[in-house]
Amino acid sequence: MPVTFTKSALLLSMLLGIGQAHAANQPSPAALANRSGIPHPAVIAHRGASFDAPESTAPAYKLARDLGADYLELDLQRSKDGVLFALHDDNLQRTTDVASKFPERKDSPANAFTMAELKTLDAGSWFNTAYPDRARPSYEGLKVLTLDEIIDIAQGNPLHKPGLYIETKEAKQFPGLERDLKEKLHDRGWLSPTASKLAKSALGVGQGKGKVVLQTFEKSSLELLQKEMPQVPKILLLWVGEGSIEPKSKVKFAESGDKDKAAYYAKQEPKDKAEFQRWVDYAKAQGAIGTGPSAALTKGGDQSYSDLVKPWMNQYTHDQGLLVHVYTVDDAVDYQNVMNAGVDGIFTNRASELLKFYKRPAAASVAQVLTNNGY
Ligand code: G3P
Ligand code: CA
Repeated sequence: MPVTFTKSALLLSMLLGIGQAHAANQPSPAALANRSGIPHPAVIAHRGASFDAPESTAPAYKLARDLGADYLELDLQRSKDGVLFALHDDNLQRTTDVASKFPERKDSPANAFTMAELKTLDAGSWFNTAYPDRARPSYEGLKVLTLDEIIDIAQGNPLHKPGLYIETKEAKQFPGLERDLKEKLHDRGWLSPTASKLAKSALGVGQGKGKVVLQTFEKSSLELLQKEMPQVPKILLLWVGEGSIEPKSKVKFAESGDKDKAAYYAKQEPKDKAEFQRWVDYAKAQGAIGTGPSAALTKGGDQSYSDLVKPWMNQYTHDQGLLVHVYTVDDAVDYQNVMNAGVDGIFTNRASELLKFYKRPAAASVAQVLTNNGY
């Protein structure tokens, strides 16, 4: 189903952003996004439509695409034999049957496996066990996807072409990953210059200047991405903790007495205002077009982190001429909270719900799209 980033959508984004004035010498966040070819507000399908289908697999990415998400998000890793692929975790235990196929190597990092080995794994059945209410027999035996295969999916719907929002995950483990990514994107025609800022047609972000966004938590990877692909928009991901923003409290989760990590993270905050600002300033200095901060979710859960989208934080980021894309938000109450706080786009596992929230509902239901795609 075609999704057009129309004038009305632009107007909507501006209306949703009226709670925040921007610095007099800065364009509005909507104008900043438009300049980079990025929809405002943006719908970023986190590991695909991963609430409704196993994360980072074909049904999850096809569903996100066909619902009309702006971007397919993925965490990039490299196999032992040099193939780029998508996987969030360091190892394969949570999302595949590695423990039964390779019991002696079950704890090994994913990059210790060749692509042929990775392709023997079942990356779908775990979802049916974890979420029986969303289980489908067709999810059994799903494959780990290469970046090439995700590009094929992104290009595969003639009526809607999402962009790619690619994270270099634990990039220090993969020397040369940024260059490998550049070569792949170049080979696939995803680095070709595009005249239009936003896709003018109904086809979507994948046809415009903002068709690829690069994201990382690692400063060194941001610098390498900027060196390799200076023309491609980049986001510095932020959270409070080791390797990112220094926390006010040094108490570890294990000593905190908190009932779960969400409760612990909810209390974490930057050491001080200047520490948060230093990270934003760094992102800007390295050529990023924005930041990707964490959010604390109303319901908690394993994707609830520190609240780094307080209005003053977003205001500061906007005042530096940067955008804010928050991760990872799935419920309407939280969509509203983060939009009220001034963010410019949302990573979500539930693209269908965020599209509804933004008044861009998909033409077909999740179940219909999954069925149409053979799942
Ligand atoms: O990339 C944005 C968000 O995905 C960061 O968190 O851990 O889900 O990759 P994570
Ligand atoms: Ca990610």
